[in-house]
Order: sequence, then C-alpha cells, then structure tokens
Amino acid sequence: MVDVLLGLQWGDEGKGKIVDFFAKDYDVIARFQGGPNAGHTLYVNDKKVVLHQIPSGVFHKGVLNLIGNGVVLDPVVLRREMETVNSFGVDLKQNLFISERTHLILPTHRALDKAAELSKGNQKIGSTLKGISPAYMDKTGRNGLRVGDLLDKSFTTSYIKLRLKHQKLLDNYNFHEDITAWEEEFFEAVEILKGLNIVNGEYFINKQIKAGKKVLAEGAQGSMLDIDFGTFPYVTSSNTISAGVSNGLGIAPQYIKDVIGVTKAYCTRVGSGPFPTELENETGEELRKIGNEFGATTGRPRRCGWIDLVALKYACMINGVTKIVMTKADVLDAFKELEVCTAYKINGKETDEVPFQMEKQKPEPVYKKFAGWNCATDAAKLYNKLPESMKEYVQFINQYLGVTINYISNGPGREQIIEIN
Ligand code: GDP
Ligand code: IMO
Ligand code: MG
Repeated sequence: MVDVLLGLQWGDEGKGKIVDFFAKDYDVIARFQGGPNAGHTLYVNDKKVVLHQIPSGVFHKGVLNLIGNGVVLDPVVLRREMETVNSFGVDLKQNLFISERTHLILPTHRALDKAAELSKGNQKIGSTLKGISPAYMDKTGRNGLRVGDLLDKSFTTSYIKLRLKHQKLLDNYNFHEDITAWEEEFFEAVEILKGLNIVNGEYFINKQIKAGKKVLAEGAQGSMLDIDFGTFPYVTSSNTISAGVSNGLGIAPQYIKDVIGVTKAYCTRVGSGPFPTELENETGEELRKIGNEFGATTGRPRRCGWIDLVALKYACMINGVTKIVMTKADVLDAFKELEVCTAYKINGKETDEVPFQMEKQKPEPVYKKFAGWNCATDAAKLYNKLPESMKEYVQFINQYLGVTINYISNGPGREQIIEIN
C-alpha cells in the first residue's frame, strides 16, 4: 500500500515536517522526483535540519528511505547531507537506498543552469541553480548518466564525452567560469556514493509492497511548479503531482491509496512567475516576517500572499487529494482580518478555474474576508481548543475544495500538529 504526500502550492508548504510526523506509521519513505532544489525542514531533538535529497523519514529507526529513479541526484550535495544526518547517529548504510536508474547532476549541469538563467535576463525562472533543468534535459534527451553507471569502468569516459558536449553549450552561452574545483569535489563525492546501497529501485519498492509494507512517497516542490500543470515556464522540470509517483518509483497506480496534500494557511512562492494573491505591501511583509519566509535552499525571501483556493482546488483535482494538512496556521494568529481568494477575474469575467497562461491573462483575485482569531494558537493540542474563527476558516476551505483538512500544523516543532476528528 502506498500513500503520497505532496505540496499543493508553489513549494515550501512544510512537507518535511509533515513527512517526519507521519514517518512512524510507514516502513518506507521514498522520494520520486526533484533533487537538491528541494529544502525540507524538520526538527530533530529540537535541532533544525534541512534535507535536500534524502527522504524525511531518515531519523526514524527501522524506516527505510529510497531515492527513486525520478529524482536527479547531486553526489556533492548528498555527501554534505550525509554528514549532517550522520551527526545525529543515523547509519545511512542501513536505511538509505538509491535507485541505479536515478540520473546524476554533474558539475556542468550546474554551470549550464547558471548560464541559461543569466541569458534569460529579466525573464529568468528564478531557478535554485542546482542543475535541475539541465539534468532532466539530459534525461529526456537520452544523454544523462545514472547512479548505476558509476559502477561501470567506463564511467569516466562517458563523463568526459558528455562534458565535451556541455562545454560546447557553455561556449555558446559565453560562459567561461572555471569549474575544476566543482569537478574535484564531484569525483570525491562519487566515491562516497558508490559505498551506499545502490539498488534496483523498482524491484526494491515492489517487493516491499508485496510484503505488505507501507510506503509513503514524499513529493518535492509543489503542484503549481509541476512541469505540465504548473505556471509554465516558471516551473521546475519534473512532475511534482501524484502521477509522478508511478514513473518516479515504478509503482503501478492501483497501489496508490491516500494522496495527502499539504498547504499553508496562506501562500508563498519563491522565484519568478505568476502569483495572483501576492501581497506586495505591509501585510505581505508581515507574513514573511512572522512566517520566517526565507528559502530553505537558497535563503531568498519568499513572496507572500493570501491563500488561493482557485489554485488549491485545481491542485486537489489533478492530484486526487484525499486528505489535507494545513500548515503554518499559527502564522495567521497576528492578523485581525484574513482574506481568501475564491475566484479570479480575467478580462472582467469571474472564473474559478486556473487559466492556461496566468502570466498573460493576469488573473485578479476575488477575495472573501474573514475575521482573524487574533490570539496565540501555537500551544493548542486539540481541535476543540482552537478559536471559533479558525474553525470557520477551515470549514469554509473544506467546503470550497470538497476535500477535508484533517490536520492543522500550528508551529514548526514535531509535536505542533492537531488532528481533526
Ligand atoms: P518544505 O519544503 O515543504 O518541506 O517546507 P520548508 O521546510 O522549505 O519550509 C517550511 C518552513 O516552515 C520551515 O522553516 C518549517 O520549519 C516551518 N514550518 C512547518 N510547519 C510549520 C507550522 O505549522 N508553523 C510554523 N510557524 N512554521 C512551520
Ligand atoms: P521544496 O521541495 C519552492 C522553484 C524555484 C524556481 C523554480 C525552478 O523545498 O518545496 P529549479 O531549481 O527547479 O530550476 O527552480 O522552482 N523551486 C522551489 N520553490 N520550494 C522548492 O522545493 C523548490 N524547488 C524549486 O525557486 O522558481
Ligand atoms: Mg522547501
């Protein structure tokens, strides 16, 4: 049996914390897409940890963690992450497994990412510059190198061949930064990666499923950053939605049960691209300050705004969301009044559907106002202890989406989460 947990907005919904919270109920946690562009924050023994590629179940004894074939993996970032995780006494040789089909991010992919972004000028995507798009381009272009290739004697030859191809592209971009140091650390990190459990991911996961084990697929980024359904071209390069679980892990659709969608009680986006409910004013500033909205991977300030139910309902539809976790509800404690986007106005006409090209059609949000609860909720442990106005907010969202919020997260800590019965 497989459940999926993924972001319903533009990423950073708090997936890491929630996966860590649910991990004890699962046998395997598996990443199915994305790469080190992700930054999933969790607290272990009150210490903050940010994971980029290692699944967020890694701190739970007995839980196995799989990096699936749909991920693009940077050995250098993995090495750094391993050091952090090891410092908590976790033995990754016991609980981390990597698919041999997982594509590698090479130093030249990072250089190409940077060169491509620079060439876009003010049309830039706002990429995390981790080499994600060039690595996926080499995958679909059938040039990429995979983790399993590392075990082959011809790896260095294949690397040099691909590097030459990349060099031509970099020359075209007029990009001449010296990446020798990056290459050195890459080859050092590769040696460490080779010592980990490199497995046939599809057999690994299907044997677990057949043995009756419970699998949680951990999404990265968010549904509005999906390569097909997000705000293209301001998206990432993978399928972030639930369908990505099948091709990112080799799991047939009939095994997928719950799709747990994570949304903030408001909305953020980091990087460029349309964001209808963005607040470029004091309220937006306040959300950023109280919510500590700065990127976990790049440190960039996140753009902030009210919750967008049009986009959220769309995300529920394409993912088949069965349960919702609403995070960062405590961040709204300080606000006297809240707004919720219930429709878009495009060319004077109201719609509750996400348009093809948000950038050109510039939807104006139509808001419904709510009284804020305006009191501290971060210590609450039970739903019935929460203020009535928060319950009204939650119930309105449930009704609009036709899917129920089952959990409210009211702080970054592991124990700050309330189940709604
Ligand atoms: P992810 O990428 O979806 O895992 O999310 P990030 O880790 O990038 O960003 C979420 C941020 O919000 C992190 O700093 C978390 O520690 C924090 N966080 C998660 N849940 C809550 C919550 O309920 N309340 C507050 N105040 N912070 C939270
Ligand atoms: P987690 O898993 C938020 C954004 C970038 C940029 C766009 C493309 O922590 O939620 P890329 O590096 O893929 O070329 O960037 O996607 N982005 C994220 N935004 N959270 C993430 O991951 C993100 N990963 C990528 O800011 O706008
Ligand atoms: Mg993040």
